[in-house]
Amino acid sequence: MPAGLGPRRARGTDPVRRSCCTNLVGVDAADISADLEHVLHTADQIDARGTELAALIDADYAGRRPVLVGVLNGAMIVMSDLCRAMHCHVEVDWMAVSSYGSGTRSSGVVRILKDLTVDVAGRDVLIVEDIIDTGLTLSYLVHNIATRGAASVRVVTMFRKPEALNAPAEADEIPDEFVVGYGLDYAGRYRNLRDLATLAPHVYR
Ligand code: IMP
Repeated sequence: MPAGLGPRRARGTDPVRRSCCTNLVGVDAADISADLEHVLHTADQIDARGTELAALIDADYAGRRPVLVGVLNGAMIVMSDLCRAMHCHVEVDWMAVSSYGSGTRSSGVVRILKDLTVDVAGRDVLIVEDIIDTGLTLSYLVHNIATRGAASVRVVTMFRKPEALNAPAEADEIPDEFVVGYGLDYAGRYRNLRDLATLAPHVYR
């Protein structure tokens, strides 16, 4: 008999269901919120801001077909929200770079871990970023994409920290603190939080 079609078992005794439940313990909302200190932006605030940014981008690129380049992994959520809120034609591509490792400070060295698949020569490129801290990652990416002959290279980011270099004016400035959620991680975790929040000190111990 195919899995799942047998007689109903009591919750927790079915081996398949039990292993699913074990996996889900790690993403339980109550678990995650115990690790948070302050919510800086709620999901609703972020959503409203995303809609405004999408309208600005639509107006700026009217009649053109920009290539949106998301910076993995952090920009996965802002990219999916932004591009669905836009009405102009877009293409989507991704780059993955590393500048942080598993710590909370930029290492200062940017390495390309995954490159573009679209040829951006002659194209209008809009880099989609989650947050700008020092600005090092974006400076590197803007320069790198410009040298491939892109017609224009611009940046949209949801958040920026106070010291960020060359950050777009529209980005929401947040305090100079390490934040998680809305795609941003600490050591690979917390990307699935809908709010943007700081972490409680016990997480770093
Ligand atoms: P920058 O090169 O210092 O501007 O760092 C940019 C990248 O570092 C972003 O794309 C994020 O992935 C990551 N980053 C910067 N600040 C934070 C933070 O507060 N939390 C999580 N990731 C961050």
